Amino acid sequence: RQSAPLPTDIRAMKGAAPIVSLTAYTTPMARMMDAHCDFVLVGDSVGMVLHGMRSTVGVTMEMMVMHGQAVARGLDRAMLVIDMPFGSYEEDPRQAMRNASHLMRETGAAAVKLEGGAHMADTIRFLTARGVPVMAHIGLTPQAVGTLGGYKVQGRGAAAKHLSEDAQAVADAGAFAVVLEKIPAALADRITSEIAIPTIGIGASAGCDGQVLVVDDMLGLFTAFKPKFVKRYAQLGADGEAAIAAYAAEVRARAFPAAEHVFADEAPAKAPGA
Ligand code: KIV
Ligand code: NA
Repeated sequence: RQSAPLPTDIRAMKGAAPIVSLTAYTTPMARMMDAHCDFVLVGDSVGMVLHGMRSTVGVTMEMMVMHGQAVARGLDRAMLVIDMPFGSYEEDPRQAMRNASHLMRETGAAAVKLEGGAHMADTIRFLTARGVPVMAHIGLTPQAVGTLGGYKVQGRGAAAKHLSEDAQAVADAGAFAVVLEKIPAALADRITSEIAIPTIGIGASAGCDGQVLVVDDMLGLFTAFKPKFVKRYAQLGADGEAAIAAYAAEVRARAFPAAEHVFADEAPAKAPGA
């Protein structure tokens, strides 16, 4: 992991090159994206995407550690960022430091991500002063689904000013980047030009300094619903179901396994020199 970028390198990409990122939860997915992403996020979306939860509120530290370790095993050159789950950082900066250091120690992640703007600024300042690089996440913050009243577009109309202030607050507090989720494109562009740290858009705008998507969404593997901001670059869910249907039909027709999948009584002769 000598070649992985550092959070300071990601920060320095603002204005230089678009930052590419995806979520990952498993080793094989991490391997698929390692050569193509600047950073890989172990998102708490793992609860909904892999565990069938209806929100991210039930995701635990143990789940984040386990998936973080799996992703770390698949990465060679992309930076690893890990989400702090609901309830692991909101109480006070000390609780956040305890849990952030645990996540970094157990997974080797280079940085943590946490949800919240101005109200999390003290915590972001506390963590960064103590060696924990922080990526902030504002706009639609899924852990707050209960108080936001659903997964709605954030920052429209008068609320735009508050989001601009949130972005400035997390940048001033020392965050090295900020995720902007599900906000108007013009607001995302304005925030991107106003703050000194990179903006990472998801449902934001092509003008953000980088983009992130949930990998199962963009591969068409997660099909329970599709947010407007998701583009499906493949249909692995449909392809996978077709493959399973073909297997089931062949088993029922006794067409699988075929001759090449079964073993003879005698071991085949070894090739010379083998
Ligand atoms: O959990 C997650 O997948 C995220 C990204 C969508 C930013 O927080
Ligand atoms: Na998340």
